[in-house]
Amino acid sequence: MRAIVVEPPTPGARLEDVPDPEPHRGEVGVRVLECGVCGTDRDIVAGQYGTPPTGSRRLVLGHENLGAVEAVGPGVAGWKRGDLVVATVRRGCGRCRFCLTNQSDLCETGGFTERGIRGRDGYFAERYSEGPEYLVHVPEALRAVAVLLEPLSVVEKAYHEGRSVLDRLGPTPGHPRETPPSALVSGTGAIGMLASFLLRSEGYDVVAIDRHGEGTPAAALLRRIGAEHVDAAGGLGALSGRRFEMVLEASGNAPLDFDLLRALAPNGVLVLTGIPPADRPPISLAAGQVLRDLVLANQAIVGSVNANRSYFELGIRHLSRFRKAWGDAVARVITSRHALDEAPALLADRGSGAMKNVLTIAR
Ligand code: BGC
Repeated sequence: MRAIVVEPPTPGARLEDVPDPEPHRGEVGVRVLECGVCGTDRDIVAGQYGTPPTGSRRLVLGHENLGAVEAVGPGVAGWKRGDLVVATVRRGCGRCRFCLTNQSDLCETGGFTERGIRGRDGYFAERYSEGPEYLVHVPEALRAVAVLLEPLSVVEKAYHEGRSVLDRLGPTPGHPRETPPSALVSGTGAIGMLASFLLRSEGYDVVAIDRHGEGTPAAALLRRIGAEHVDAAGGLGALSGRRFEMVLEASGNAPLDFDLLRALAPNGVLVLTGIPPADRPPISLAAGQVLRDLVLANQAIVGSVNANRSYFELGIRHLSRFRKAWGDAVARVITSRHALDEAPALLADRGSGAMKNVLTIAR
């Protein structure tokens, strides 16, 4: 079968013929329909991230996926040919208490693998096979947007982490809040946009920032869901001193991450999802002032990575909710679709400003 392969840490990606996977006993064989391309894929192609499977130099790239069941191995119940399916990314270490309870996103040992990223082949290929515990059923009605489920699962978890911090502020009997909760989203790639959808649907007033004017598809989409877009190319001064209870960061820019603390309300939480490059020169920072402000305002910073299957299941419910609220708006997060052989060029392009490029692998 055809697949996009990389040899981390050597930069570059290529289309190659690789052996077809054989579904083993207890596995499901899946025909890949679509895959999303994300910043992590581009980091791997740039030689900054990624690990091939043990004993191999080559890694099949890709972790955002949508497929259709093609073969059901012996011993598997609950799946039939043609079912739409999205597979999760992380496989647990098999040892820690979190991995042993279906929460490998919280793995404590670091012994996990991730399909298409770390130690396990991914989904930029015509087929894969996998155990049903890692497969999530997708309703036919969500076919057009289900390739967004993996990035949405990452957002669901990040929101959950932020919410858990805010929930430490108990109710104030007799003094109901007078305004909706407020959120700032930093970045209008797919993660930032899906975070804006989720936060709006949870009743937040949402401001999303990027470094572009009002003319982009992302800005138009934000208006459509009742979120505000702010061009912060000139810095956070563009927010006019406004502060937000939840700041959800999706840009992976370390200096900006610290700057975002200035936009955080008292008792608020900054949730980081971007993975900044580790090789940038150190930045200088008034650490005493930053930590002092954080302590004196009861604020929290939390990092959030990956998502276990419960967040994929939540994501399915929320994709339906987004469609009910805003029709086809969520489908517009997908900015372009490409053939598999266009992937190497697409993966090398970091500057297009697209929300989500998708590879169409089969129809
Ligand atoms: C993926 C996650 C993964 C993370 C770190 C993200 O792009 O969506 O599943 O855990 O990268 O490797």
